Amino acid sequence: MAGVTDLPFRRICREHGASMVFTEMISAKGLCLGDRKSLSLLWSDGSDRPLGVQIFGAEPLMLAEAARICQELGADLLDINMGCPVHKVVKQGAGAALLRDLKLIEKIIRDVRLSITIPLTVKIRAGWDSRNIVASEVARICEHNGVDAIIIHPRTRSQGYGSPADWSLIEEAQSMVSIPVIGNGDVFSARDVLRMMASTGCKGVMIGRAARGNPWIFSGAAKLLQGHGDVRGPTLPERLFIIRRHLSAVCAQYPCKKALGVSKNHLLRYLRGVPNGRRLRDRISKANDLSEIMELLELLENSLSDAQEMEPVDHPGRKVEPLLHGSKRIN
Ligand SMILES: Cc1cc2nc3c(=O)[nH]c(=O)nc-3n(C[C@H](O)[C@H](O)[C@H](O)COP(=O)(O)O)c2cc1C
Repeated sequence: MAGVTDLPFRRICREHGASMVFTEMISAKGLCLGDRKSLSLLWSDGSDRPLGVQIFGAEPLMLAEAARICQELGADLLDINMGCPVHKVVKQGAGAALLRDLKLIEKIIRDVRLSITIPLTVKIRAGWDSRNIVASEVARICEHNGVDAIIIHPRTRSQGYGSPADWSLIEEAQSMVSIPVIGNGDVFSARDVLRMMASTGCKGVMIGRAARGNPWIFSGAAKLLQGHGDVRGPTLPERLFIIRRHLSAVCAQYPCKKALGVSKNHLLRYLRGVPNGRRLRDRISKANDLSEIMELLELLENSLSDAQEMEPVDHPGRKVEPLLHGSKRIN
């Protein structure tokens, strides 16, 4: 997720059971031109493995060259973005705009496949609009051209996040191809992971928005998949422990001003569902530096009775807001 899935956040997700994580989308052109900002999105370390790197672009040879660069720089898997609905991406013919040109999709996949030996995945939306649903056709193209798995977010570009993801399109695609289909879209709780797998037959599940402030969704899903009957959310001390770890990794990675913005962004989500959290979130939004935020967290910790501390804090499942993909970038 653009502006979200940086190294600190990916590490937290892994520690909670995410088996594969991806960078945010990176411009193929930026990588080919050696643009510093694009290259900085590849920031990673040995604890961040296996790492999927996602690139976007519209020109086959440029995407192929960018893929080669990613492989050379250590990517374990390369993913091509064919689903981003944001105007500034689709106006370049990239992201979801590719779904209007299946021949170009095939050319891109062939060229990228030839340029790398690491696993290749493609992430798509269902199609450009409701009259042009192409998910299964793209899945077939992927299968015939050496793609290792396809990730489907079954909404059209026109839908944005406006209507529910249509999981039946995931089921349809998985029934037509033998490569794994990874389902994505509207997985808001650990239980939704099982629901998606059972109802679509998909071989994997990708979680986006619901992981923000709630990495426990991965451990919860892993436990349910192992047959545990029920899972509880973290207690407040558990939550605070992870928040502090996350924020200190953010501070280690970014200059102060950027670290403050990134921290607030994550923290406001971590504190959803915390009793009387509204005022606290308000004060965090207005904080001018990180020490102020740390003091507020300490106040929260001290204000709790023992009984409250032991109560699991459940993340409010369906209250994941319908963000426009990429619209809330913080950098
Ligand atoms: C802030 C934000 C940034 C995103 N950035 C990307 C991106 O860089 N690449 C991508 O493939 N999808 C991106 N997405 C889309 C998500 O990966 C995912 O497909 C979509 O949100 C549906 O899944 P969910 O219901 O689990 O969130 C982004 C979504 C959000 C909310």
